[in-house]
Amino acid sequence: MEVILRPTAGDAVQLTARLIAARLREKHDLVLGLATGRTMEVVYDILAGLHTNEGLDFSLCRTFNLDEYIGLTPDDPHSYHSYMKKHLFSRVNIDLRNTHLPDGMAVDLKAAARRYEEKIAACGGLDLQLLGIGHDGHIGFNEPLSSLRSRTRDKSLTPDTIAVNSTMFGDEPHRMPRRAMTMGVGTILDAREIVLLATGASKAAIMAKALEGPVTSMVTASALQWHPACKVIVDEAAGGALKERDYYRWIFENEPDWAPYRDVADAGRGI
Ligand code: F6R
Repeated sequence: MEVILRPTAGDAVQLTARLIAARLREKHDLVLGLATGRTMEVVYDILAGLHTNEGLDFSLCRTFNLDEYIGLTPDDPHSYHSYMKKHLFSRVNIDLRNTHLPDGMAVDLKAAARRYEEKIAACGGLDLQLLGIGHDGHIGFNEPLSSLRSRTRDKSLTPDTIAVNSTMFGDEPHRMPRRAMTMGVGTILDAREIVLLATGASKAAIMAKALEGPVTSMVTASALQWHPACKVIVDEAAGGALKERDYYRWIFENEPDWAPYRDVADAGRGI
C-alpha cells in the first residue's frame, strides 16, 4: 500500500482524477470500478472536464459500480444509477451498454449478485477500482464485520451510514433505504489496482485505523493492507491522525512512479 498525502482536498482530488485518466489513456477498454458519494462528485467533474477539454476517451471503457440501494428503481433520483448518469455518464462519451451497477430491484437478490460477479469476470476482472471510505471504515457498503472474503451480496446498512447518507436525500430523508447490494471485500481485493480517496477532517480518525491499525473486519478498509497495488490518496485534513505523515510526503516527492504527477495541483477549484 502507498499512502499519498496532498496539501488540500483539491490537490488530492486532482491527483486521483489524473491517475484514472492516465490508466484510461494506457488502456482504452479499461475495466473501471466506480464509487459514488460526495467525495467522488468532484473527481467526476474533473474527468468530465478532461473529456471536454483534452478529449479523454471513454468510448471503450467498461464500468462496474460498487453498490446500489435495494428498493430504488434506476430512474429514482436518489439511486446510484441516477447519480452516475448525472455526475459522469451523461457528460462523457461512454457507451451506456458498457456501464454496470448492481440491480437493487431484483426479485432474487442472491441470483442478481451472482450475475454481477459473473459479468465482472466475463470482462476479465477489474483493472482499477476507485474507492471512498465511510466514517465506520466501510468500502462499498461493506459495513463492520463484513467478511474480508465476501463477494457481491445484499447487506444491511448501519444506523450511522443510514443517518449520514440520508442527508443526500434532500427533503426526503425517510426514503433512504436500509439495505444495499454491494461488491464484497473479496471482490474489491481482486481488482488489479485500487485507488482510495479520502478528504476532510471528519475522515481522519477512521483513516488512521484503516491504514495504520490492525487488519480487522470491524474496519473493512483495513483489508486494503493486503492488496499489492493499492494507492491511498488523502489531503492533510484526512491524513491528520496518521503517524507516518513525513514518510508518506517523502514517497510522493521521491518515488519515480509519482514523478509524472508532482505538478498536479488543485486547478483553482477551491474545494
Ligand atoms: C459509495 C460507496 C461508499 C462511499 C463512502 C464515502 O458507492 O461505496 O463506500 O464511498 O460512504 O462516502 P462520502 O464520499 O459521501 O463520504
